[in-house]
Amino acid sequence: MCVPSSKKWSAVAIRPVLKMGDPRLWQQARTVDFFATPELHALIADMQETMLHLDGAGLAAPQIGVGLRVVIFGFEDNPRYPEAGSVPYTILINPELTPLSDEIEEAWEGCLSVPGLRGSVPRWRHLRYTGFDPCGQPIERSVDGFHARVVQHECDHLDGILYPMRIRDFRLFGFADALSPDAENLPED
Ligand code: NI
Repeated sequence: MCVPSSKKWSAVAIRPVLKMGDPRLWQQARTVDFFATPELHALIADMQETMLHLDGAGLAAPQIGVGLRVVIFGFEDNPRYPEAGSVPYTILINPELTPLSDEIEEAWEGCLSVPGLRGSVPRWRHLRYTGFDPCGQPIERSVDGFHARVVQHECDHLDGILYPMRIRDFRLFGFADALSPDAENLPED
């Protein structure tokens, strides 16, 4: 049984999210070697708490200053974000992404490390991702659209890439409330 009782955790905490400019966001995160450890569960609990508190669609460990290849994401249908649909809540460790076609799609993104801004970012439309859950069980999914976009955004954080580094047209980058409603009505991740 991998899932720990909450008693084993020290207090779960909302952690500060690093903002663009902090050099820790540019680092390459390290592979997780050991699963089902109290440290890994504690990290994920803090990430969940932080993402929930900030109403985010996803969070990568480097965003709270932990240089490990751990991302979480998930998103329920929300009337505030009609474009996004829903993405199942997922904890993904040591992810690998493989595009399933050449198709690239441009759409708006936001990021908890770049608060208040949105940009139009090109991403693979279809991809397969693999990785592990916190117990070390393999995960494999083929996805497209917003789900594929969120995974690419989060996995970029593990390689020190923030979405503004992928923007091709800087006229499509700006403050959420100054851009189109489509851009404003998007969660940050
Ligand atoms: Ni982000």
